[in-house]
Amino acid sequence: MRFFSIVLLIVSINLSLFATAEVVKVDERFQDSQSCKACHLRIVSEWENSWHSKSHFEKDEYFRESLKYYSRKTRKSVNAVKVECATCHNPRISVTSTDEDYEIAAVMGLDKGSEVDNAVNDTAISEGINCVVCHNIDKIHDSYDASKRGINRVKWTESGTMTGPYKDAKSPYHKVVHHAFMDKNPNKLCFVCHANDRSAKGIIFTDMESEYNRGKKKGIKNCVECHMGAKRKDVASTYKMYNGKAKIRKVRDHGFKGAHISSMWKDALKLKLSQKGSNVVVKIINPQPHNIPSGFGSREIEVNVVYKKRDKILKEQTLSLTNHYVRKRNKPTIPHLAIKKAKDMSIPAEGKKVLRVPVFEGATSVTVTLNYILVNEEVRSILKLKSDNWAKKNYITKESLGLKF
Ligand code: HEC
Ligand code: HEC
Ligand code: HEC
Ligand code: HEC
Ligand code: HEC
Repeated sequence: MRFFSIVLLIVSINLSLFATAEVVKVDERFQDSQSCKACHLRIVSEWENSWHSKSHFEKDEYFRESLKYYSRKTRKSVNAVKVECATCHNPRISVTSTDEDYEIAAVMGLDKGSEVDNAVNDTAISEGINCVVCHNIDKIHDSYDASKRGINRVKWTESGTMTGPYKDAKSPYHKVVHHAFMDKNPNKLCFVCHANDRSAKGIIFTDMESEYNRGKKKGIKNCVECHMGAKRKDVASTYKMYNGKAKIRKVRDHGFKGAHISSMWKDALKLKLSQKGSNVVVKIINPQPHNIPSGFGSREIEVNVVYKKRDKILKEQTLSLTNHYVRKRNKPTIPHLAIKKAKDMSIPAEGKKVLRVPVFEGATSVTVTLNYILVNEEVRSILKLKSDNWAKKNYITKESLGLKF
């Protein structure tokens, strides 16, 4: 018995290690979110404002520059890197891996019009993570190795079959199928990509799944409850499918609002200040069920400390909470090229971080302000990012304390 289960185990491990991503071609009628507009206008407009719609390299400067930098440093062709990153950023790509022969052709400039070149430049993937990514997932392979994500973790439905949260939906345009990961257990869908993001050297710089499980308590909210908003009553489709009427359903927002939306940062963390002798104790509390910063490496929390004597500013000091990554010879680099990660500076899920800063002599009060920045100074300068958006300070919260001597 035991012997057989060991053999079975080995067989299944091997299957999961060697399973390659399967490609299902999406029919032109479903490729583009524009073709969903006639019946799902609200949802398409919400999604268009989300960062899922910007996950293609043409639409996100930070992603594009990281990709090019990664290509230069690893001496892999840009197209091969595009295919690699597409695993999660453009999962409907028609080529899922490249080989040595392709690298040789690329170096010699002979890859124009090749299968890989066509796949990378296909307009069918220009929308990034669009409707036919999430709603064409038929199975999520939980048993696969944790490093397998995106394309490598899912099985697609046949083209034209949409997976959705309703058991009784009917549509004149497409087939529908119900799955629990669209309804009861949607975190599973998010963890297809928002987990186990790793560098070329295997350093994991994002793992929202283990962060979330660590902070797990009874009644913990699902990702969609915060990033797709509360359920509300509206039609899922304006098409009059049911006796000349559209059904009123419980729906959510497809904006996937997150770190790029300034207003989302307000009160995302809490601050508590106290004085202990000659120190100010700054307690930063994270009520969210995942670390902050999280998601992507190189995000930053700026802690700004201002000492005043009545109305006069005596001293201003800024501390930075961010994760740093290094490559060979301890040179700073981007998360995707890391061979080592410095100390984790993020505030743990449903946890806190405590900083101590010495009281400035003569000050009668201290004010601490927290801001969030999408990309820290180190990585902004490595990649020479141009848009101001990456350096913008997004206000989180502020506290003041009177000081005693
Ligand atoms: C990142 C994944 C993701 C993408 C991309 C996405 N959806 Fe959804 N969609 C979901 C999830 C999850 C739900 C279920 C939400 C719930 O009810 O908890 C959902 C629900 C729906 C529903 C049911 C009604 C509702 O609003 O809850 C429809 C219809 C729908 N999506 C259509 C679309 C269309 C059209 C697009 C493209 C513009 C799209 N979705 C893009 C994940 C996604
Ligand atoms: C001609 C109208 C029409 C078009 C075009 C259309 N749909 Fe739908 N869709 C519907 C109707 C009707 C429903 C069912 C609504 C309900 O039951 O409340 C539906 C339901 C859905 C659902 C939820 C299914 C479930 O079981 O929960 C998803 C997801 C969805 N559509 C995705 C899409 C996507 C993606 C596109 C574009 C590629 C698209 N639809 C184009 C009419 C349409
Ligand atoms: C197919 C992979 C994939 C799936 C599935 C997926 N995401 Fe994403 N998500 C991404 C990528 C890639 C980005 C970053 C796009 C960019 O910034 O260019 C992103 C961005 C986001 C953002 C914006 C973060 C920010 O920094 O502003 C939020 C919020 C988010 N996703 C939530 C979700 C939730 C909730 C689910 C599950 C319902 C989900 N995602 C499913 C890949 C995915
Ligand atoms: C209780 C509400 C809540 C839940 C549940 C939640 N988040 Fe968040 N999340 C936040 C807040 C608040 C922020 C910070 C502001 C913002 O980006 O929206 C955030 C930030 C993020 C970011 C950007 C992180 C960064 O530091 O750049 C991503 C990506 C994200 N969440 C994805 C997820 C995923 C995936 C899940 C499910 C495992 C999830 N969230 C569950 C509230 C929540
Ligand atoms: C395992 C899935 C996965 C793979 C593979 C992946 N990414 Fe991502 N990436 C994500 C997710 C999820 C996010 C969103 C996290 C967030 O915004 O907090 C993201 C966000 C990013 C961002 C931040 C974008 C922004 O607007 O802030 C950059 C840059 C990035 N990825 C670069 C890359 C590069 C370069 C590659 C290929 C070498 C790659 N990624 C491969 C999942 C992946």
